Amino acid sequence: MAETVTLQVDGKEYHLPLVQGTEGERAIDITRLRAETGLITLDPGYANTGSCESAITYIDGEQGILRYRGIPIEQFENHPNFVEVAWLLIFGKLPDQQEYARFSEALTNTANIDESMKHNFQGFPRSAPPMAILSAMINALSCFHPEFRKVDDPDQLEAVAARLISKIRTIAAYAYRRSRGKPVMYPDPKLRYVTNFLHMMFSQPYEEYICDDITQDALNLLLILHADHEQNCSTSTVRMVGSSQANLFTSCASGVSALWGPLHGGANVQVIDMLKHIHEGQMTPEEYVRRAKEKTSGERLMGFGHRVYKNFDPRAVVLQRTAERLFRKMNKHDPLLDIARKLEEIALADSYFVERKLYPNVDFYSGVILRAIGIPVNMFTVIFAIGRLPGWIAHWAEQNASSTARISRPRQIYTGNPETRYVSLLKG
Ligand code: CMC
Repeated sequence: MAETVTLQVDGKEYHLPLVQGTEGERAIDITRLRAETGLITLDPGYANTGSCESAITYIDGEQGILRYRGIPIEQFENHPNFVEVAWLLIFGKLPDQQEYARFSEALTNTANIDESMKHNFQGFPRSAPPMAILSAMINALSCFHPEFRKVDDPDQLEAVAARLISKIRTIAAYAYRRSRGKPVMYPDPKLRYVTNFLHMMFSQPYEEYICDDITQDALNLLLILHADHEQNCSTSTVRMVGSSQANLFTSCASGVSALWGPLHGGANVQVIDMLKHIHEGQMTPEEYVRRAKEKTSGERLMGFGHRVYKNFDPRAVVLQRTAERLFRKMNKHDPLLDIARKLEEIALADSYFVERKLYPNVDFYSGVILRAIGIPVNMFTVIFAIGRLPGWIAHWAEQNASSTARISRPRQIYTGNPETRYVSLLKG
């Protein structure tokens, strides 16, 4: 017999089914709760709410585990190939040689954006944040590709996924060039995914940017570590928008907007600002940690804490290793890395952080790596978005293909006025 939990309300008993995931995590299925009891659940920030069943990514926040389609993320560390991982997330298995070649070719062939779309970049002020441009331009893709406003089969999914994954880096690079007042560089079909992006960012009409293997591997790994994180804020946004059967481009544009916020993807910029602030001598690491603990200061230790991880964020562990390796290989030194290490040491020995189980998250070390490979700070969150895109596509597609998915429409507990008579205060 299926397991249930018993709920007692007003002297009556209700039996609610328990569901169990592959790794043994359990949930109370409340689908019939309101119909049977008249009650709803209240869970601000959805900290206890499973919004869907999903077969894409598994996280165990207590143990610090993150797996894509069952594969622990650490296993990608020595073979960083973002395109392969993107396929894995979207299609549920690693690509074979033929699938990989076909997908890579599609990425190469669709890297360019429509000429008329390019004019839109000129319409933004030079000071426009690249995240705002990215969101607007991804949304604009739905004007240029009406054939993908509905995706009904795996071939169409492959075609639209390739276009979006390819074009996001072109749009991102053009947004950056716009902010610097530089001419756009067309994609180069000879280059691979990451190097083509860096070429569009940094080559000049008179001087080609040459990408070394260290940079290529570091950026591939960084994108992989950001590629999915189950029902985080931006992915839930993509699923929410997609639940109304809105198209993939529009849904992902909403994901970019959600990611921009400083508590989500925008934290990687905040971390660098914090480290610079300390480096410039405006505060010692000890003072910063002290302020982060004061609720009235309005400051937090950026890059620390996570809704799900109550242990080390496994992405931060890999990124810290990557940062150390990268600086060694490049024979570089960044004082901000020293400050990050110091902050981590102070926080992890402080009862405030220990009791609340606050550990470094993915954003804590990603900024120093991006700085080392020459990515400007205003592009940090854009890089996060490029990395997260395969995850958004995978979740949108999973929901799009589900026969049981319904439009997302939470309820609320109303706390406003009781019924009130309309008495106008306007004269005449
Ligand atoms: N510095 C100081 N105190 C903190 C921090 C921090 N970074 N994070 C959480 N706390 C405290 C918080 O004040 C609260 O204390 P109390 O119980 O005394 O009221 C307690 O820890 C629980 O925090 P919360 O805000 O209820 O936790 P949450 O799950 O709602 O928020 C978070 C998670 C990631 C938004 C939060 O930890 C935070 O603001 N961190 C800094 C921003 C950051 O690094 N964001 C990136 C997250 S990882 C990548 C991503 O998702 O994009």
